Amino acid sequence: MDMKSIIITGGAGFIGSHVVRLFVNKYPEYRIINVDKLTYAGNLANLKDVEEKPNYRFVKADICDFDTIYALMQEEHVTGIIHLAAESHVDRSIKDPFTFARTNVMGTLSLLQAAKLYWEAQPEKYEGKRFYHISTDEVYGALEMTHPEGIEPPFSTQASSEHHEAYGEDFFVETTKYNPHSPYSASKASSDHFVRAFHDTYGMPTIVTNCSNNYGPYQFPEKLIPLFINNIRHRKPLPVYGKGENVRDWLYVEDHARAIDLIFHQGTVAETYNIGGFNEWKNIDIIRVVINTVDRLLGREEGEDMNLITYVTDRAGHDMRYAIDSRKLQAELGWEPSLQFEEGIEKTVRWYLENQDWMDNITSGEYEKYYEDMYKGR
Ligand code: NAD
Ligand code: DAU
Repeated sequence: MDMKSIIITGGAGFIGSHVVRLFVNKYPEYRIINVDKLTYAGNLANLKDVEEKPNYRFVKADICDFDTIYALMQEEHVTGIIHLAAESHVDRSIKDPFTFARTNVMGTLSLLQAAKLYWEAQPEKYEGKRFYHISTDEVYGALEMTHPEGIEPPFSTQASSEHHEAYGEDFFVETTKYNPHSPYSASKASSDHFVRAFHDTYGMPTIVTNCSNNYGPYQFPEKLIPLFINNIRHRKPLPVYGKGENVRDWLYVEDHARAIDLIFHQGTVAETYNIGGFNEWKNIDIIRVVINTVDRLLGREEGEDMNLITYVTDRAGHDMRYAIDSRKLQAELGWEPSLQFEEGIEKTVRWYLENQDWMDNITSGEYEKYYEDMYKGR
């Protein structure tokens, strides 16, 4: 398969920046083209360490801009697309669903159509091509808390088969019916359907993966973990939605990037793979771990900031529990999470505390202006 010229959309965001870094460093013979609009969530500071690499190019563009994407595909002879660009925050989608429909649905459709027209015009057509769409477990809706009696999260990362034997079978699998609840997950579900339709209708070689909650460096501080780390540091209230009992399945972002690399190269066309950490936590438990870790690393007494926990009105339509069954990916391609959660959260908290400039740059409001000026006229 000729995979030498790859567009990665959303590469200036959280997960995208880890995927770009992995591909640029691991495949010097590839050309990696990061296409990102640089919304509030896109930050080129996430990619400082790779921006000078000869196999890397950044293009500031909106995925909804069909003409630009189509021209770029022609110019770069693009053979693969790894599509991560999206509006990704559930709370924003509740306030502004239109933006989510525009980027996540129309943007994905625009990319698909550009790829279709360009690839179908090539003599070899779809041979050696791949359109890989990154999606979320939220499209499946919400699970109930149906763990066997006496067994409750947190569950730490462990071999998936053991996890399932111990904790029952109520997980999202690849065939779970779509049942999205938020405007964000509805828009992602719609984009997943378009991607599969392009395979079924035109024969485009597509792959879709649905992943659980990621955590790690470079996540925009509107999401639970970086927001809370920053608030604890500055001794600001920690807004816990509802009772804090919702469960999420957390995966270290570099493990997601490793899975994306593996699936892009070895996954079967038209298949779906679920990616998850086998690592379920109630929000309130994870928040306590984060507080203890930040306190310890800042030389405070462990737990002294517990009083920052502030229960607030629940998120509208708040999904109770997400939990991914990624045994298919494990069985077919041999992937499993590499990090124990305890290790991953320690690394993550340490990174945010040691990179306060990155955080201050974003939270000060200066950064949007900085990048606006930097790319004026491009
Ligand atoms: P993010 O919000 O951190 O980054 C999104 C990136 O997309 C930003 O760089 C932004 O500038 C860019 N972007 C947004 N609209 C664009 C447009 N119209 N044109 C071009 N670029 C645009 O998101 P993330 O958390 O890194 O998520 C990346 C992808 O992974 C998303 O598709 C998301 O649905 C999916 N996902 C995320 C998680 C998670 O836990 N964060 C889990 C599973 C799946
Ligand atoms: O499951 C995958 C999804 O994970 C991705 O598709 C999304 O892009 C990503 O944002 C994430 O969605 P969540 O809504 O689960 O993540 P968030 O960090 O916003 O919230 C995690 C949990 O913490 C959720 O139950 C809501 C709760 N929460 C969140 C925030 C920001 C709070 O209690 N307080 C908060 O301030």
